[in-house]
Amino acid sequence: MRIVLLGGAGYLGTVATRHLTDLGHHVTVVDGLIYQRGDNPARLLPTASAFVNADLRDPDALRRAATGADAVVHLGGLVGEPACVLDETLAVELNYASPVLAAEAARAAGVEHYVFFSSCSVYGSHQGTVDEDTAPNPLGIYARTKVLAERTLAGLMDGHALSVLRLATVHGRSPRQRLDSVANRMTAQAIATGRIPLNGGGQRRPLVHVGDVAGVLAQVLTTPGGHRIFNVGADRENYTIAEIARTVEKAVPGTRIDAGPERDEADARDYRTSFARLAATFPGACPTTLAQGVREVANAVEAKELDDPDLPEYDNLVGLKNSLADGRIRALRSEDCTRLHADYANVPRSER
Ligand SMILES: NC(=O)c1ccc[n+]([C@@H]2O[C@H](COP(=O)([O-])OP(=O)(O)OC[C@H]3O[C@@H](n4cnc5c(N)ncnc54)[C@H](O)[C@@H]3O)[C@@H](O)[C@H]2O)c1
Repeated sequence: MRIVLLGGAGYLGTVATRHLTDLGHHVTVVDGLIYQRGDNPARLLPTASAFVNADLRDPDALRRAATGADAVVHLGGLVGEPACVLDETLAVELNYASPVLAAEAARAAGVEHYVFFSSCSVYGSHQGTVDEDTAPNPLGIYARTKVLAERTLAGLMDGHALSVLRLATVHGRSPRQRLDSVANRMTAQAIATGRIPLNGGGQRRPLVHVGDVAGVLAQVLTTPGGHRIFNVGADRENYTIAEIARTVEKAVPGTRIDAGPERDEADARDYRTSFARLAATFPGACPTTLAQGVREVANAVEAKELDDPDLPEYDNLVGLKNSLADGRIRALRSEDCTRLHADYANVPRSER
């Protein structure tokens, strides 16, 4: 199968590329390497069939990439609220305009299947257990752009196969390592300082291993069908932030949790997620536990496979600030982006 991974040089994409090429697929990665990290595609993506350095908001580049592909997967964009609030216009262009432009290009090129990487963050805060039929409750720009993209793509891909993957928060080892998501960050902190700062920690959050996401993507790609939404993770991998800290504490001997009060600016996301649909469709999906992912990252830091975990290259937010400061990335305000920005602006405040 000929697969195009848009944003495939990132944390998830580099793992997915390896997995898909191991299965014999032809994988073209399109990525603009938007973070200032000195990324070397040959090192990050040694098995990729092709690499194209392009901006995922460029309709011509998207059209060229989609031509001849069996499936286009969008996993580019800005991840998480702190990155999105730095520049809301840029966030809308990367997280909403880009996936829509890519779907338009895929449709025009006759691509059979489009896969969009969304997030369980769309659920925001919810008392009970959320599943794919629960109404989204986006709490910020990141989740709003994901919800709007999901809705627009559903209309756009009418009559074509569309799969939306709402991922839990990802942990584990990747060639393009991120240490800025909750479990990886706590693990790196535990090894570097022997301490895990924990403020409050009652919010519930589902987690999933990066390799399991790649496995789910491979299964979804080989069984396309209609319009589908999957929460990606496993029921037993729902944790509170405090439970994540305790898992890290156990996996890294000699570590202590420094517990403090909840901070005012705390991330308000809080939900328990059902992954029953994924488990019923792909039995055995997402078998890796949080403890296994934590150990994997801890081993890499201890073995010095990862340099100083405090380096900015492991933190997308720092990378984005650097890229914005030196003009490597900016809001384009192109005609296409402006057209799509209007969709975002038209979402009623109450639904944002
Ligand atoms: N990592 C997580 O915990 C997590 C959780 C839920 C959902 N997701 C979703 O999964 C997807 C991948 O996440 P990730 O952690 O691999 O992110 P990442 O930041 O590591 O990778 C994204 C890649 O996209 C590229 N990119 C972004 N905008 C671009 C543009 N306009 N032009 C060219 N390249 C561009 C970046 O250079 C980067 O290599 C995202 O859509 C994210 O929202 C991730």
